[in-house]
Amino acid sequence: MCGIVGYIGSSKAQDILVEGLKKLEYRGYDSAGVAVYNGGRLEVVKAKGRLAELEGKLEAAPLSGTIGIGHTRWATHGKPSDVNSHPHVDNERKISVVHNGIIENYIALKEELIERGHRFVSETDTEVISHLIADLYEGDIVRAVQAAVKRLRGAYALGVIAEEEPDKLVAVRNASPLIIGVGDGENFIGSDIPAVLPHTRDIYILKDGEMAVLTRNGVELFTLEGNIISRELFHVDWDLTTAEKGGYDHFMLKEIHEQPKAYRDTMGSRITEDGKRVVMNEVKMTADELRTIRHVHIVACGTAYHAGLVGKNVIERLARIPVEADVASEYRYRAPIISKETLVIVVSQSGETADTLAALREAQRQGARVIAITNVVGSSVAREADDVITTWAGPEIAVASTKAYTSQLIAFYLFGLYLTQTLETQEPAMIEEAITALRALPEQVETLLGQADTVKAFAEKIANHDDLFFIGRGLDYAVAQEGSLKLKEISYIHSEAYASGELKHGTLALIEDGVPVIALATQQELFEKTLSNIKEVTARGAYVMGIAPEGDQELAKSVDEVITIPRTLGLLTPALSVVPLQLLAYYASLARGNDVDKPRNLAKSVTVE
Ligand code: G6P
Repeated sequence: MCGIVGYIGSSKAQDILVEGLKKLEYRGYDSAGVAVYNGGRLEVVKAKGRLAELEGKLEAAPLSGTIGIGHTRWATHGKPSDVNSHPHVDNERKISVVHNGIIENYIALKEELIERGHRFVSETDTEVISHLIADLYEGDIVRAVQAAVKRLRGAYALGVIAEEEPDKLVAVRNASPLIIGVGDGENFIGSDIPAVLPHTRDIYILKDGEMAVLTRNGVELFTLEGNIISRELFHVDWDLTTAEKGGYDHFMLKEIHEQPKAYRDTMGSRITEDGKRVVMNEVKMTADELRTIRHVHIVACGTAYHAGLVGKNVIERLARIPVEADVASEYRYRAPIISKETLVIVVSQSGETADTLAALREAQRQGARVIAITNVVGSSVAREADDVITTWAGPEIAVASTKAYTSQLIAFYLFGLYLTQTLETQEPAMIEEAITALRALPEQVETLLGQADTVKAFAEKIANHDDLFFIGRGLDYAVAQEGSLKLKEISYIHSEAYASGELKHGTLALIEDGVPVIALATQQELFEKTLSNIKEVTARGAYVMGIAPEGDQELAKSVDEVITIPRTLGLLTPALSVVPLQLLAYYASLARGNDVDKPRNLAKSVTVE
């Protein structure tokens, strides 16, 4: 999940590389480096730590060359350090490589290369690639790269330059994302579109098993066997400022506030004008095919998995089809029972998560139809799934996912309703009522955001605690799990989410004077039972923030602080109740002085298993 950039043109490569790396820092940020062809040789500058460290080194000794590659790293093989940072070179510094992914057979290759006289300096798998290409190099970098990748097993996106051919930049993609930006007299590579957007909006999206050769005046795409590929340019019409902080202190806060827009955009044209039906043109399955579905598996990682927990509820309750929700890293290995009658829904903000992608492939291999819910058009998951429901949350930069999660919920509501109207498992009036409630959500989120100060005050009170608990029943439990994850991710406070009814079977032993508890009680039919569970913790001295429906009189009497959420259908409450939990995590992180947008040890996009 590292970030790659590359440049060939007539401007100073160093500046363009650093600028591109800044846009990719969310992909990994424990070290960074650049290699530039400068004064007749490849110069490499690398630094452990944030990009600013690298910038400092480059300012002190600038490179003036006009071709180069850059990398921001999230360590896999070898700890974060200057020497393990990319770009890597061979012993004679003739070839330089940046890499995203993992080379599975690097140990065998390394042994072989050592026998042939190569000396290794880092602990990385990537260094093997630079040595291997150098070993195979006979004056033609394209051929040498082609020969080298035949020997590599694993996932990789590569950017390669050679000292003897300073007019060529070679890029290869196999199971790790890579795009090519096409400019005028200059061309670019990037692991993601924002890296090149300041310079060009014309993009080639490389597919697995493809390579590109960039010169100053053109780009050619090839298969790894050397056959030319012709492909249309993809014109990006995103506004770059949508990827900037837009006046907020942090991307996360900005993204929390963007949720009303993300809800509206994701609903977009998917609801008929009269508000009676859901339209899903992107789902190509016919009504007859939808009727053959006997079970649904929802597979995802992290926050996307938590959206899947809500999705399970939605589909089961509305469409009356049994649903299982799994974390992707477990799914493949538990021998899931998959048939042609199984619909697998994979959920992924980035569309590049390795575990999710592997689950998708396994499901397809076993004959299931796969629908992807993803936020990134053209991502691996989007390309490989049979059908794609895009969430229109826009680029999400903060590592902790907020607007992507809630847009995934909206996608599940829409798909759940679409399935329901096709299978006719509910009355049309019920569907209409749900659509009306859905449409009210964006404004209700805006109202909720107005209670941020109450959440902030609570967050500041709990920020010094080491442990806390989230409790809830049914959908509230699903949201509690997401609230707990959010808090852990960015505040580093240990927390756990419990089904309220399960507390008395063990966890209650941990409740003592002053232990903070966040209690969700938004589900009408479960309210009384949840209230009893809340009383179990208040009786033992817990300090409780309750989340209740607007107009609540009961919960407020039993807890220390209360946040009310606007009235909606029970099924839709997660799209509202999660918002105060996102704010809680944000303010707790802030109170502890953490780097909110870039929490330690985590990365936005995890492209290794
Ligand atoms: C990483 C991110 C999480 C995210 C998960 C799945 O762990 O830090 O925020 O939920 O990956 O990512 P995806 O892009 O597949 O939704």
